[in-house]
Amino acid sequence: MRIAVVGTGYVGLVSGACFADFGHQVTCIDKDAQKIASLQRGQIPIYEPDLDRLVEHNSRAGRLVFSTELADPVSKADAVFIAVGTPSRRGDGHADLSYVYAAAEEIALALNGYTVVITKSTVPVGTGDEVERLIRDMNPAADYAVVSNPEFLREGAAIRDFKFPDRIVVGTENQRAQAVMAEIYRPLSLNKAPIMYTGRRTAELVKYAANAFLATKITFINEIADLAEKVGADVQEVARGIGLDNRIGSKFLHAGPGFGGSCFPKDIRAIIKTAQDFDAHLRVVEAVLAVNDNRKRAMARKIAAFFGGNLRHKTIAVLGLTFKPNTDDMREAPSIPLITAIRDMGATVRAYDPAGMSQARIEMPDIVYCKDAYACADGADALVIVTEWEEFRALDLDRLKRDMASPIIVDLRNIYSPEELTARGFLYQSVGRVTRALQVESAL
Ligand SMILES: NC(=O)c1ccc[n+]([C@@H]2O[C@H](COP(=O)([O-])OP(=O)(O)OC[C@H]3O[C@@H](n4cnc5c(N)ncnc54)[C@H](O)[C@@H]3O)[C@@H](O)[C@H]2O)c1
Repeated sequence: MRIAVVGTGYVGLVSGACFADFGHQVTCIDKDAQKIASLQRGQIPIYEPDLDRLVEHNSRAGRLVFSTELADPVSKADAVFIAVGTPSRRGDGHADLSYVYAAAEEIALALNGYTVVITKSTVPVGTGDEVERLIRDMNPAADYAVVSNPEFLREGAAIRDFKFPDRIVVGTENQRAQAVMAEIYRPLSLNKAPIMYTGRRTAELVKYAANAFLATKITFINEIADLAEKVGADVQEVARGIGLDNRIGSKFLHAGPGFGGSCFPKDIRAIIKTAQDFDAHLRVVEAVLAVNDNRKRAMARKIAAFFGGNLRHKTIAVLGLTFKPNTDDMREAPSIPLITAIRDMGATVRAYDPAGMSQARIEMPDIVYCKDAYACADGADALVIVTEWEEFRALDLDRLKRDMASPIIVDLRNIYSPEELTARGFLYQSVGRVTRALQVESAL
């Protein structure tokens, strides 16, 4: 198959590289000339494990090329994927579809012969209808079908997720388009990935419903964590205890500082808006968003609690800035509102992240960035673990204790054991687990 991917970001680049790896002929297109130039030089503009190897291998084999030019590759394509961004629209939280529509208009003028146009971007219900209408208006003679094929990959594990998906959702009732989609994904049927064919609107809603459900699961366990702290229970054990029930499942039950990232917050806002427009309010999802928004500042109060609720003249070391490990993506990372809250309370912030610091500098230019975890902790009054990067799991605790001004660790990802840290002389606070030392203190 000849495939054009419009939008070469996290999703477009990973999808394009994986399609090429399946043996298809792929052109990844982007408006960002710098991004395309660096890809043409073999430099990957994002941090995603193994993506460099995959891109290099398939570029070398001549199956993957990069271009700022849309018309030629689209005119030759059997399938054109739209993978541009759909951020929150400023002001009202609806998905901003201007990039999708701009791409669709450009695609419309370039279509030549039967082509399947596929929205891989996360788009509200009805967007496929609008893309179809738009193409028809721009190019009445075009021979095409518009399909929804939402993407479920997770940054940090994107290639694995793309190649071994739990399911592939294809929204179209058009038989000819279905056959093209089946051919594109044929290599995955060898991995027994189920392809679910459904209506286009249903496919669009599947993506939002999936993200809303996952965000609900996280928010649920976060609230249980708060309760566990109050009643002296351990949220991780609670999560295990409920997760072993197959109806619940153990994934997405890790208590933490609240969800963030490039998808959940904007997708949750968008599904709430869609539901309001159709007068079918999603009250559970609305509560999830509100609870999650409040959580980031609540985490800052957890840190301040060690200092009588005041962080003035304190230096706080923050480990991990990206919204999750193994990505450099800072979009709506919980670290941003958390650091803002810490600074509002008067603290100076020093930070370290293995991959996210150049993105973070754009968002937060006036905090101190450090070369590693130890430089970050040096002289700090408290150390806060915000993102659970692998390299933070085995820190030299004696060195930290020696170098910090006071041995306080706030572990928002529960990667250390309260007993161990307390035994080593740290004042330690995590999420949903009361350390014995703190219990003793409050008993006194
Ligand atoms: N990032 C994820 O983990 C993830 C997972 C599943 C779904 N999604 C969805 O996929 C879509 C893309 O997300 P992303 O994270 O890859 O975004 P991104 O911002 O990383 O990439 C989007 C790219 O599209 C380019 N672009 C915009 N308009 C264009 C145009 N008209 N022509 C060519 N290029 C254009 C931009 O320059 C940018 O490089 C979004 O709808 C998102 O919700 C993302």
